[in-house]
Amino acid sequence: MTLKRKAEYEKSVARTREKRMRWWREARYGMFVHWGLYALLERNEWVQAIECIPVKEYEKLAQKFKPKPNAAREWAKLARDAGMKYMVMTTKHHEGFCLWDTQQTNYNSVKTACGRDLVREYVDACREFGLKIGFYYSLMDWHHPDGGRCAYDPEARRRFLDFTTGCVRELMSNYGKIDILWYDVALPFKSYEGWESLAMNQTARGLQPHIMINDRSRLDEDFSTPEGSVSPAESGRGWEACMTFNDTSWGYMPAAAQDRWTDRDILKMLCTASGGCGNLLLNIGPAPDGSVPEEAVAPLKNVGKWLAKNGQAVYGKVDPAPSNFGASASGAFSRTGKRIYFWVRCWPGREMGIGGFKTKLKSARFHVGGEKIDFEQDGARIILKNMPRTSPDKIAGVTMIELEFAAVPKHQAFATTPPLLEGF
Ligand code: GLC
Repeated sequence: MTLKRKAEYEKSVARTREKRMRWWREARYGMFVHWGLYALLERNEWVQAIECIPVKEYEKLAQKFKPKPNAAREWAKLARDAGMKYMVMTTKHHEGFCLWDTQQTNYNSVKTACGRDLVREYVDACREFGLKIGFYYSLMDWHHPDGGRCAYDPEARRRFLDFTTGCVRELMSNYGKIDILWYDVALPFKSYEGWESLAMNQTARGLQPHIMINDRSRLDEDFSTPEGSVSPAESGRGWEACMTFNDTSWGYMPAAAQDRWTDRDILKMLCTASGGCGNLLLNIGPAPDGSVPEEAVAPLKNVGKWLAKNGQAVYGKVDPAPSNFGASASGAFSRTGKRIYFWVRCWPGREMGIGGFKTKLKSARFHVGGEKIDFEQDGARIILKNMPRTSPDKIAGVTMIELEFAAVPKHQAFATTPPLLEGF
């Protein structure tokens, strides 16, 4: 393979980007899975580093890690029922333990107590439940003897880069079609040259021409990955917010009930993602035996039920929606063409005002059931009238209203307030 230089490589990748990413842009919602030896300690996937556990002591966990067979089926079934369309699983996290049958190190799930290729089980489960497949791979490695030394010792660096590329090559060669390569933490090298990311990613693309690659190998590649907050990337660029399930840990760590996301929290994130044309990658950290943490099951299933009725506001083609700032305090928007989907979280009762749209409103209706809603429009003020007293959505209390405008709606916050608020 002849290697392209950066500019040429990025151009060629950009040329096929929209086509490669179409499914993902339409999918909108995926499941992240953080699973590894750290699950056994129940204190965050960073536990080895945080608590200064020596490698020799930590690696003994590999002799205790014996998950039940095909745990991945449970995750994939739940993901499907939750309305998620793809999954991304940690094939190797910072701890360095590989969950697949690798030739690069014996520190893997096949050659230790587990005795099975967990990546294979995961891939099979995704396929069984019709989900696209993503591989998370941590570049940083706390177990490999050269993982830190490579920063100052050229021979160690060569060995470590060969190891890294060897791992990526195996993952891209041995499991059929893979849809996403999701790198993480590119330390200790500070540049793409340090990691030889151009060569590594061209190798990956050579083996998986349809793959999407995230932005964490010190190259921008295909999409951005805001973490811990659902915040849009610059316009036009794909972005995927990754979120833990309990605001505490990616790896298994039972959290206080108050810290867990509810179905309504998830819908709020999904609304922001849809309104900003981005994706939500919501994490579960399975228990050491592979079971889905109990905290995730009910909210995810309920969101799935809700999406089965309201998914049109989420999946498929969505366009950038106006923010709800200066429009309504009752909910937020996503949009397809001239239609605004109004996700009403706080049901206001019989009437509701929406400010700032001067574009002519043609109709307002409930998305579920299609019943029309009476309305008045006066300048920048819309009033929805004669509505039910309580939220019609009995699944999560988030009712979807469709507002069909005569043209792509323009919004201006505080459009009719006196100059006092101009530019606020
Ligand atoms: C961070 C953390 C890591 C987690 C990841 C998910 O970079 O180091 O533990 O896997 O974010 O995005």
